[in-house]
Amino acid sequence: MTEPKQLSVQALQWTGQSLKVLDQRLLPEQIRYDEYQDAAGVTEAIASMRVRGAPAIGIAAAYGVVLSAMRHFPNSEWQAAVEQDIKQLAASRPTAVNLFWALDKMHGLLATQPAEPIAALTQLAEQIHSDDIAANHAMGERGADIIGDAKAVLTHCNAGALATGGYGTALGVIRSAHKRGQLQNVYADETRPWLQGARLTVWELAQDGIPATLIADSAAAWLMKSGKIDWIVVGADRITANGDVANKIGTYSLAVLAKQHGVKMMVAAPSSTFDFSLESGDSIEIEERNPKELLADCYLQDGSLVGAWNPVFDVTPAELITAIVTERGAVINPGQHGVRSLQTC
Ligand code: MRU
Repeated sequence: MTEPKQLSVQALQWTGQSLKVLDQRLLPEQIRYDEYQDAAGVTEAIASMRVRGAPAIGIAAAYGVVLSAMRHFPNSEWQAAVEQDIKQLAASRPTAVNLFWALDKMHGLLATQPAEPIAALTQLAEQIHSDDIAANHAMGERGADIIGDAKAVLTHCNAGALATGGYGTALGVIRSAHKRGQLQNVYADETRPWLQGARLTVWELAQDGIPATLIADSAAAWLMKSGKIDWIVVGADRITANGDVANKIGTYSLAVLAKQHGVKMMVAAPSSTFDFSLESGDSIEIEERNPKELLADCYLQDGSLVGAWNPVFDVTPAELITAIVTERGAVINPGQHGVRSLQTC
């Protein structure tokens, strides 16, 4: 794979001794990196969404395993201590499979008992990181080919550099299409309640000079009805063998609306997002976060008078998706045959 370019926005910076995490809860008002030297800190950074986005949490977890080995090696029972940290990291968030994919890779290497475990684990974590960036560039080009001469797209949540090793999945496609001069406008919906669209995506697009227009989530149907967009382009947290896609809550609504309005729906995700062990999206665990995230915007804030239900992902059935794009290739109309053709092992 070719050497990836340096990127303007970096969610994660590996120093060789520690992991610096851009605290995405503070964006766009404040740019602050927190520095972590152990796996417990990285676990907390993922659980609290300082770092978020499926590929980014997988990469952060891989570095978390390196930090664990640095802390425990060569104490007696160091391997058991690292395995315990891997379990903790795996319990940080349930839906994005990239987290478990990265931890499985790190655990697999640990099990081979490398002679120099810290060097070997560091090399693997760095490889996971750089492969993700390269995959995003490949996906960006492929996705841009598919959206062709689309003039405007809608994206949901943040599937950009902030959510990945760099460049982004959905925003990678958008970046590549914009570079080709194809795309004139990118609509981003707010993505309540955490506002990944309003706080992160439009900020990230603005950094790169890509024209962005923010809409309320509830404006999506009217946007489609107005004929202003040709495609919806989103990322994914887990894609099952039949092509069902778990992504940020609200993606399913957009797919249903897209069908009604003849708008096409693209999902861009690296192969680390595929879970071929699951036949369909029915078996994906959907994270439910603290109701306080919703009640913060409600005038009955204390939660004693009103409840709140806060699922943060949903599953879009494969038949509502026009194209799933990966670094290995694309599947058009995944509802017809699923995505097993992208499985290599
Ligand atoms: O809760 P988040 O912000 O981690 O959810 C992120 C998403 O749903 C993204 O769309 C997905 O992880 C793809 S990121 C390339």
